Amino acid sequence: MFLKNYWYVAAWDHELKREPLARTFLGEPVVMYRTEDGTPVAFADRCCHRRAPLSLGRVVGDNLQCGYHGLTFDPNGDCVAVPGQTTQPPGSKLQSFPVVERWQWIWIWMGDPAEADPAKIPNTYWNDHPEWTTVGGYLHMKCHYQLLVDNLLDLTHETFLHQKTIGNEHVANTPLAKVSRGNGDLAGLGALADASRDPDGVNATRWMLNIDPPPLYARAGGFEQPEDRVDRWQIIRFEPPSHVWLDVGVAEAGTGAPDGDRSQGVTHTVVDSITPETESTTHYFWTFPRNYRLDDKELDEFFAVGVHNTFLEDQEMLEGQQRNIDAEPGSLEVDINADAASIQARRVVTRLLEEEARRR
Ligand code: FES
Repeated sequence: MFLKNYWYVAAWDHELKREPLARTFLGEPVVMYRTEDGTPVAFADRCCHRRAPLSLGRVVGDNLQCGYHGLTFDPNGDCVAVPGQTTQPPGSKLQSFPVVERWQWIWIWMGDPAEADPAKIPNTYWNDHPEWTTVGGYLHMKCHYQLLVDNLLDLTHETFLHQKTIGNEHVANTPLAKVSRGNGDLAGLGALADASRDPDGVNATRWMLNIDPPPLYARAGGFEQPEDRVDRWQIIRFEPPSHVWLDVGVAEAGTGAPDGDRSQGVTHTVVDSITPETESTTHYFWTFPRNYRLDDKELDEFFAVGVHNTFLEDQEMLEGQQRNIDAEPGSLEVDINADAASIQARRVVTRLLEEEARRR
């Protein structure tokens, strides 16, 4: 079961070209391509003639031609040509999905097209903003998407899983200062992301004061001497169905970061756009924007490799979790305090799924 009346990331903008691109979202195979003027188009990857995958066809001008018997469809999904006849049979139309290109990503709406308001696309402006620069990537994960959402809402795992980059003992040993539901009220990310637009969000904060910095932030912020101490923050925003943003960083200890002065530190946003592929596989699109040293290519490479390797550690763990869940679907799990935000997020999704089911 997936929430359908939401925008999901379907692809990086550079992935979508003039050739058909096949990808599955929410269990539904989709084919996407660009028209001659670059406009993205998405259809169900199933010809209305004999259900051949349209992704095995080809793009002709603005149209998509099925690779089996040659029926041709315009960007609205209407059949405009049938080989060997001059008319199109009634009902020869493809199911199309609204798509919008924004902030380096192609967004798709898998639900009722009448509700596909582009104003509802989650605000991930950091990816394109002149005061930020970013690295980013994609991982195909063999796990249910909620395992990845859980992972991002409970960062205590950094202590144990990511010791080479972003983890040290202070994360697991510092309880979340606050978990709340509803509109964003967080200094930093709340204001940046305009979180007030979604009353179903979940917010969580953790401040670690006067601690030694983890390796990645020690390098990024120049806190590499043994005596260096930092104030570190993790400010987390979840918006249904599966978007998670982290406002993270470190500043020299005692220089006012908890009160809003981050001038003696470094700030990043981790933008996590999570799109279910099937019940047991997930598309993970991520970026890691920063608002300092915008032209430093060496730092770009450092973060591109470091963050990717960090997420590979998550991938290995989450896919192992999924295998165990599949092996014993009904086995019990216990909850701990650190699960507070992910439990809240799952409750939101469950309620919204029930609401969508009632409206069908
Ligand atoms: Fe597509 Fe026949 S299955 S044209």
